[in-house]
Amino acid sequence: MFDTLTKAPGDKILALMGEYAADSRSDKIDLGVGVYKDEQGTTPIMSSVKKAEQRILAAGKTKTYLGIAGNKGYGAAVLDLAIADAVDRSRVRIAQAPGGTGSLWVLMQLVNRARPGATIWLSDPTWPNHNPIAENAGLKVAVYPYFDTETRGVKFAEMLAALDKLGKDDVVLLHGCCHNPTGANLTNAQWDQVATSLARTGALPLIDLAYLGFGDGLLEDSYGTRKVIASVPEALIAFSGSKNFGLYRERIGAAIVIARDEAQADIVNSQMLNVIRSSYSQPPDHGAEIIRVILEDKELRAEWETELNAMRARMIGLRAKLSDAIRQRSNSKDFDFIAAHRGMFSLLGLPNSVVEHLKATNGVYMIGDSRINVAGIPEDRVGDLADALLAAIK
Ligand code: LMR
Repeated sequence: MFDTLTKAPGDKILALMGEYAADSRSDKIDLGVGVYKDEQGTTPIMSSVKKAEQRILAAGKTKTYLGIAGNKGYGAAVLDLAIADAVDRSRVRIAQAPGGTGSLWVLMQLVNRARPGATIWLSDPTWPNHNPIAENAGLKVAVYPYFDTETRGVKFAEMLAALDKLGKDDVVLLHGCCHNPTGANLTNAQWDQVATSLARTGALPLIDLAYLGFGDGLLEDSYGTRKVIASVPEALIAFSGSKNFGLYRERIGAAIVIARDEAQADIVNSQMLNVIRSSYSQPPDHGAEIIRVILEDKELRAEWETELNAMRARMIGLRAKLSDAIRQRSNSKDFDFIAAHRGMFSLLGLPNSVVEHLKATNGVYMIGDSRINVAGIPEDRVGDLADALLAAIK
């Protein structure tokens, strides 16, 4: 049977996790996989999450099946968080899914049922898993211009010109906030223009909302999502609770559909639930129940928001510290973009040879395209990192 197979390519982000773990150097620095790290370099369980888990353990009475769409309270709470009152809820359907990846997978399968082999447009560059999920779903992949390697900002005029040429059978994957891998994001005024373009062309937006709250704040980070869905008749959103609730291994996300009207929403929802039932049947509950308990309880929600705000502030602080340290040492503003970027990542724009050199010589691990996870920068090693970067690019 299996003699027809050849080895599949590995995932570069997860492969780097393994390489880092196997490196015995005590002064190694992990700027690779996108997990939040605190000052001690650990990825802690949030205190609000621990408290929710204790409540769940004490109150739990059953482990019976949840149903295909998942935890209903979770779904309602996620919609309040991600889209608020941007569109009438009669047009909205949500299905809990395993992580942001599972949500993307469900939504892309759904698109392929509606328009087999449709083209999905991804930003150049994008999270490396977008492409395989889309191809596995049967979609064709194309790219639109996004990152300007000179300014390390968004090539907005080129991006918009590409979006303006799309048609109603196209799908556009947009990063709702905290662009992965670049860290370069659209301004609110640019989101307004993107929304106008999509409303005119009829292309279907699929918004990947994996880092809500990691950029400028919960409300600020959902501006683009709310603006786009309020402007177009149909839209898709893939939500993730991995980062903002620190629930990575619980695999908790949600696939959200905004349809033209209530009747169409019911039809699309039936197809979405059919996709889920014929693949993993139903979602697991634990991560969803944690998020439901937190978001429905005033005190736990306040505690979670305080924790989330602290994580965001720490990442913004680390961005400023690293760009300051590089500016002081090099007397140049070449890396000031790190402070201007938002979210967990910045794409440094370094050649792969420099990335490999930093790994081999300094034990500094970043993704091969020179994406760094700013949360991984050790507070007391910012100067060392600046020195290593500057030495490597000399
Ligand atoms: C990342 O981009 O590092 C994260 O989203 C983790 C992953 O699954 O790739």
